[in-house]
Amino acid sequence: STSYEYILVSTPRPGVGLVTLNRPKALNALCTPLIVELNDALRKFDADLSVGAMVITGSEKAFAAGADIKEMKDKTFASAYGTDFIENWSDLAAQIKKPVLAAVNGYALGGGCELAMMADIMYCSAGAAFGQPEIKLGVVPGAGGSQRLTRAIGKSRAMELVLSGDNFDGKKAGEWGLAAKVFESPQECVDGALGLAQKIARHSRIAVKAAKEVVNKSQDLGIREGVEYERRVFHSLFGSRDQKIGMAAFAEKKKPEWENA
Ligand code: CAA
Repeated sequence: STSYEYILVSTPRPGVGLVTLNRPKALNALCTPLIVELNDALRKFDADLSVGAMVITGSEKAFAAGADIKEMKDKTFASAYGTDFIENWSDLAAQIKKPVLAAVNGYALGGGCELAMMADIMYCSAGAAFGQPEIKLGVVPGAGGSQRLTRAIGKSRAMELVLSGDNFDGKKAGEWGLAAKVFESPQECVDGALGLAQKIARHSRIAVKAAKEVVNKSQDLGIREGVEYERRVFHSLFGSRDQKIGMAAFAEKKKPEWENA
């Protein structure tokens, strides 16, 4: 397997791919090579038939403290625009078809918060520290923070956070629905995410892929087109083997043996 400098990659449970951001000296600041490695690892898991879902986590101290400020401080408009700086961060949200969970402990600031929000499901610990502090650096969020945070928690709260640069904790992230579950400790958070990923990985791969696709459509389409889109995908699944297997197993009171076909 590939060895990386800034991330650790493992398969700790059947069907589950884990990426641990591992740049401890910089609190997992997301330098360009780290993002390139992350994209590579996620793409490999996405293509790996033995993997059904992925988890991204960091350390107990930091999920990620944001984009690498030292790397970008001398950039000009022309170099940022000309190289589409940060555009490749979107691979996670735009290209990966299997479910990606974020298990967030410690700091998830700026790009760290944005990366966590790109995941399909976020779990965190109560003590996690989220925020979009870019305003304090003289800029604005650049990896989707102003858009995803606003959709997740509403305009007034998002505006307050983006304009103040203040942090909010994991408990709040749960109350506001940004995180699906909040855990007491970092270890419970990672275990919880691995457990959910394992559960997802036991379902039909075809159905899981379709389920992620239809839920994501709700973010882009109006309700009428979204519901129509969902119904078409639902119809299309009657062309899969797994629909026959799943429904026959129910009728026969058996456990389905998915063919992922
Ligand atoms: N970029 C580069 N280096 C960073 C970093 C970052 N985002 N965050 C932390 N580090 C480095 C520090 O410079 C320090 O390195 P040295 O030991 O070489 O000095 C090391 O990590 C440890 O950090 P601290 O000593 O600051 O640790 P702390 O516990 O005192 O503070 C912290 C922790 C509050 C998270 C603080 O590090 C901090 O404020 N970090 C910056 C957070 C931030 O502004 N993030 C947004 C970045 S902009 C962005 O993300 C743009 C976007 O939308 C894509």
